[in-house]
Amino acid sequence: MIDDESFYDIFWDNTNLSRLNMAQFANQISLYQPEYKEQMLEYPDKPNLLPLPKSKINKITKNRVSDRDFTDKVMTKKELGLIFSSFYAWNSLEHRSYPSAGATYSLEIFCISYNTEILNNKILYYDAENHGLSSTNNSAPSWKESTEPLNYNNEISPNLLVIYVIFPSRVTNKYGDRGGRFALLEAGAAMQQLSLQIAESNVLKGVVLGGLMDDFWKSKLGLKDTDAQIACGFLIGK
Ligand SMILES: Cc1cc2nc3c(=O)[nH]c(=O)nc-3n(C[C@H](O)[C@H](O)[C@H](O)COP(=O)(O)O)c2cc1C
Repeated sequence: MIDDESFYDIFWDNTNLSRLNMAQFANQISLYQPEYKEQMLEYPDKPNLLPLPKSKINKITKNRVSDRDFTDKVMTKKELGLIFSSFYAWNSLEHRSYPSAGATYSLEIFCISYNTEILNNKILYYDAENHGLSSTNNSAPSWKESTEPLNYNNEISPNLLVIYVIFPSRVTNKYGDRGGRFALLEAGAAMQQLSLQIAESNVLKGVVLGGLMDDFWKSKLGLKDTDAQIACGFLIGK
C-alpha cells in the first residue's frame, strides 16, 4: 500500500483515459501488429473432438456479433424492457441474471437514451429491483457531444448507450485488492448477458466500447464524489 491507495486504485489510476492521454492511447493501438497476435495455444496431440449440441443457448450464441451499423429506427419501450432485463434481479437483489462475488453486486447500470420511445436525452439509472429506469436529473450529452469522450468515431447515433459502472468498495471491503478483479469479472458477466439478449432479439444490434474517458462520464453521471469507476460502455441500436 502507498498512503491510503490500494494497488487496485493505483492500477485504475494508471489505466485512466482522458483528453490528455487519448492521443497516446490511439498511438499505442496504431503500433500494434495483428499479424503476430496469438489466438490460441497449440499442443502436439490432436484434440479429442467433442459433439457440438444445438442447445438453445448455443443457437443464440452463434448469432452474437458486434454490429455498429445502426439505423434511425426508434427503439420501443418493449425493447428497452428486453435490454435491461439483462440486469434484472430475478430472484432478489442477491440473485440476479449474472453472478457476483459474495453477492456484493458492485456493478451499477446507467444509460443515455438518444432515440427511444420514452425518456430521451436523459441520464438514467437502472433500478434492478423494480425493473425500471430512474432519471438522475443530470443532463445528457447529445450523440455529437458523446462521440469524443466515448473514443468512438461515427456520426450515426445508436438508440442507447449503456454505461457499466463499478463501485469497488462494495467488493474490496470484503475481499481487499483481489475484490477489484471480482468487480471486473462481474461486469464481464453482465456484458455477456446483454450480448446474448441482443443476439436473441434478431432486431437489436450493439457493440461494447472500452476506451471511454473516465472522468468525463463519471462527472456526467453525477458520480464525481463517489468511488465509482467507469468499466465500459455498450452502444445499442437497430
Ligand atoms: C472490453 C471490450 C472493449 C471493446 N472496445 C471496443 C471499442 O472501443 N470500439 C469498438 O468498435 N469495438 C470494441 N469492442 C468490440 C470488439 O472489437 C469485438 O468484440 C471483437 O472485434 C470481436 O468481434 P465480435 O464481437 O463481432 O465477435 C470491445 C470489446 C470488448 C470485449
